[in-house]
Amino acid sequence: MAHQLLEGKKGIIFGALDENSIAWKTAEKIYEEGGRFVLTNAPIALRMGTINDLAKKCEAEIIPADATNLEDLALLFEQSKETLGGKLDFVLHSIGMSPNVRKGKDYGDLNYDWFLKTLDVSGISFHKVLQIAEKTESMNEWGSILALTYIAAQRTFPDYGDMAQAKAVLESIARSYGYRFAKNGKVRVNTISQSPTMTTAGTGVPGFDVFFDYADKMSPLGNAPAEDCANYIVMMFSDYTRRVTMQNLMHDGGFSSSGITEEIIAELSK
Ligand code: NAI
Repeated sequence: MAHQLLEGKKGIIFGALDENSIAWKTAEKIYEEGGRFVLTNAPIALRMGTINDLAKKCEAEIIPADATNLEDLALLFEQSKETLGGKLDFVLHSIGMSPNVRKGKDYGDLNYDWFLKTLDVSGISFHKVLQIAEKTESMNEWGSILALTYIAAQRTFPDYGDMAQAKAVLESIARSYGYRFAKNGKVRVNTISQSPTMTTAGTGVPGFDVFFDYADKMSPLGNAPAEDCANYIVMMFSDYTRRVTMQNLMHDGGFSSSGITEEIIAELSK
């Protein structure tokens, strides 16, 4: 059901690791809708993943960049403009990683070097991407920049660990930089708060299966799959959302507005 909503638009997609990645599905949709882009990921992830298949399918170039490294990011933005033949209209930040969560550290026993790493990779890297995009004058007017987040920024989910703080930082950066980029370049900046999704990052959270099931039962429309998230991102990159900015946009099947659902009542009444 492609509508060429992104025809003529150019951008950068961070975070496609494998075919389950939200960024992977988004790249496929953007391509179908006529958008063209550079794919990027951390050098180590490029070695482990299968991103070449995606690049081939989407006629995209791959440029490695660690999103916490300013020099990598500056090169990425300059090279992307060269490759794509002009300034950019969209950027997707689809990056998350916590060494504490990955290594099963209890919230009362965090390793603080790892905590800083979590904040840098999953939160502050968004500021770095925005700052480099601005300094290299890479964005066209009415461009759209998005990052993916999770509702653990607002509510406690015990196993989400220090990622909750990283997501709170990420969402706050979207507001602060959204103001600045709107004034300086008519660029919009938002976060999308996505349902639990079966990806490498998602399933890395302990007890993810139960968590996924609970969220599904607590969402009147059910969990939003990655494909629907990709469609939402397409809309946010299109000209139909030019004055949506500085928002945390819920994409969760109604989870965030639900107190309890019949499915949960049935489950607890057993
Ligand atoms: P994923 O594991 O496929 O993607 C995470 C990506 O981050 C990977 O491609 C990884 O290589 C990249 N990354 C890690 N460190 C990096 C660095 N230093 N520089 C550049 N890239 C780096 O998992 P998923 O789920 O597609 O994650 C994408 C985003 O969606 C993340 O921000 C995640 O927190 C968010 N999200 C995921 C949910 C889920 O349940 N899967 C729910 C809500 C939000």
